[in-house]
Amino acid sequence: MLIPEWPIATDRELESLKEVLYSRQWGGFHEVVERFEREFAEFQHCKYGVTAVNGTVTLEMALQAAGVQEGDEVIVPAISFISTATAVSRVGGIPVFVDIGPSSFQMDPDCAARAITSKTRAIIPVHFGGPLADMDQLPQLAARHGLALIEDAAHAHGSEWRGRRAGSFGLAGSFSFQNSKVMTAGEGGILLSNDAGFDEQVRSFANQGRRQDQGWFHHYTLGTNYRITAFQAAVLLAQLERLPEQISLRTRNAQFLRSDLADVKGLRFQEIAPEVSSNSWYLFLGCVDQKTLGVSRNTFCRSLADAGVPCTPFYPHPLYRNPLYRAGGCRVEPCPNAEARIEDTFWLPHRALMGTMEVTGQIAEAIRKSCH
Ligand SMILES: Cc1ncc(COP(=O)(O)O)c(C=O)c1O
Repeated sequence: MLIPEWPIATDRELESLKEVLYSRQWGGFHEVVERFEREFAEFQHCKYGVTAVNGTVTLEMALQAAGVQEGDEVIVPAISFISTATAVSRVGGIPVFVDIGPSSFQMDPDCAARAITSKTRAIIPVHFGGPLADMDQLPQLAARHGLALIEDAAHAHGSEWRGRRAGSFGLAGSFSFQNSKVMTAGEGGILLSNDAGFDEQVRSFANQGRRQDQGWFHHYTLGTNYRITAFQAAVLLAQLERLPEQISLRTRNAQFLRSDLADVKGLRFQEIAPEVSSNSWYLFLGCVDQKTLGVSRNTFCRSLADAGVPCTPFYPHPLYRNPLYRAGGCRVEPCPNAEARIEDTFWLPHRALMGTMEVTGQIAEAIRKSCH
């Protein structure tokens, strides 16, 4: 089965890399970095963007700039990659894990509302798998309680809610460019915002506490060096050019799979809110109902893998059951949906959605066969 490899490498990346190579300005001050920040921010409907070494430190930067301090609580979903929670812990805060919707995989706004206390300072919804978390209710909830809303948009490059792109709804939007993401430079991240003061603060922090247009050896605040290289920005510009057509391709193939397999009882797919007007399709998420199918999720995944379709049997546990958080340092709200999804969910990576119609038909067939 000809499922494309990821990342996709073309002459376009090679040309951009060569330009940087021969410019002999390989660091973060090459104009290509500034250009990428400007173009990606604009693409995501934001005014400002600060690149950084990965999408974990961009979350930490956002929390720190939002004023989250020792003992402050930050609401995070129980299902995500670990960075969403550790970023909170790393700045001294307490992650408060709340449940996701039963089929959306997104933070449940009612659960988030119930978790708010006098110590809460921020909410970090994760746009899980590509579709956005509820960007009507969660920003309203944050505004009502005076909390910072920080979007973890590591899965959501190009995704939209009512025509507005991820990262533009809250105080800041954090993106990752790690190797598996839909835009990648191997590693990298960016923090987007629409607030000039916030942008100035995080930009200075990621660049040794310097100020724009001031001296190289003049440091105004306690910062660090989180700059990306010009090579990364060159690759990312090439990736950004291709993103819209890749999203269209993944959308076509995902929609085909979902409608072709709609008749398979015991198999269901991620619920995507009608307000999601574009979806990056970072993950193709589904759930196996063992009672109906007579096949366990793990057997299903193994059989798909044997047929040549990459398939991951979801995370092994909600974030709070990692040894790190079993030892404390967090608060855990009831999360029955997160617990249930650990047992029955699988995902296909986005490259499985990037083949021809023929390949997509073969994937549908392999999924059908794995259900028996
Ligand atoms: C939801 C989420 N947030 C944050 C990150 C962290 O990004 P990075 O790997 O660039 O540090 C990831 C990466 O996998 C992620 O999936």
